[in-house]
Amino acid sequence: MSISITPLSEHTGAEVRGIDLRRDVGDEARERLNRAFVEHSVLAIRGQRLSPREFADAARLFGEIFVQHNTRFALPECPVVHYISNEDKYPDGKPYIPGAGYHTDHSNDATPPKATMLHAVELPDSGGDTQFVNMHRAWETLPEAMRQRIEGLKALHVYQSRHSERKLFGLPPEAKGRVPDAVVHPIVRTHPETGRKAIYINPIRIESIVGMDDDEALPLLDALLEHAVRLEHQYRHRWQPGDVVIWDNRCLLHKANGDYDMSQRRYLYRLMLRGDAPF
Ligand code: SIN
Repeated sequence: MSISITPLSEHTGAEVRGIDLRRDVGDEARERLNRAFVEHSVLAIRGQRLSPREFADAARLFGEIFVQHNTRFALPECPVVHYISNEDKYPDGKPYIPGAGYHTDHSNDATPPKATMLHAVELPDSGGDTQFVNMHRAWETLPEAMRQRIEGLKALHVYQSRHSERKLFGLPPEAKGRVPDAVVHPIVRTHPETGRKAIYINPIRIESIVGMDDDEALPLLDALLEHAVRLEHQYRHRWQPGDVVIWDNRCLLHKANGDYDMSQRRYLYRLMLRGDAPF
């Protein structure tokens, strides 16, 4: 295999070509891909056509599989792989767009997944991009006074914050006991593989800042989000059929866009890889 890795923006994302994830890529390519993942935070591996089981096997190139919290989306033939589909509806009939609104995955876990992977099975003709925000850049461009204000702060993360604008489907009963009620994580975390710092916030899951009133905490979180999502910190992924995209939840926010023709199907496989407790 002759693998090429080409940056997709100045700071985030790289495109990978010349690899067939159904085959054993070998140790050298595996190491190169893992280095590229840490360096670019998002890898778009083009031109794959994987069954759910092949997708799960390919994911093990990058780590161990994390069991996702809401098993209602698990695929019966390979339950560690979930689906994302615009055909799911809220009880009132409105489309449910999984991943709408900036977030980082499963931060309500004591050891949140280091990475999430999606495989595009069916896409609309246009739209439905995924936007990524580089939270290292967000930290590094924050005014010094703000850095001093937030370093050392901790936040309480829950399955669904009472402040979240996006409403999630509730957890099935079997998740009780497996999914923690609440966990505390630092608002500034250090990437365990590079030592770089990143802002770690999640508008869908953060319930409160420890030791701070909501009157102070909510405007602070809003200000951090507003700063983070500035265009110059973003990479916007335009999906191509067959893409396998892996991203680093330790230093990115992401969101899905529901800006396309809803009569067209958008269907992807999703899985996550185990991570460490943020520090
Ligand atoms: C997600 O947040 O995991 C979904 C992103 C997407 O569908 O673009």
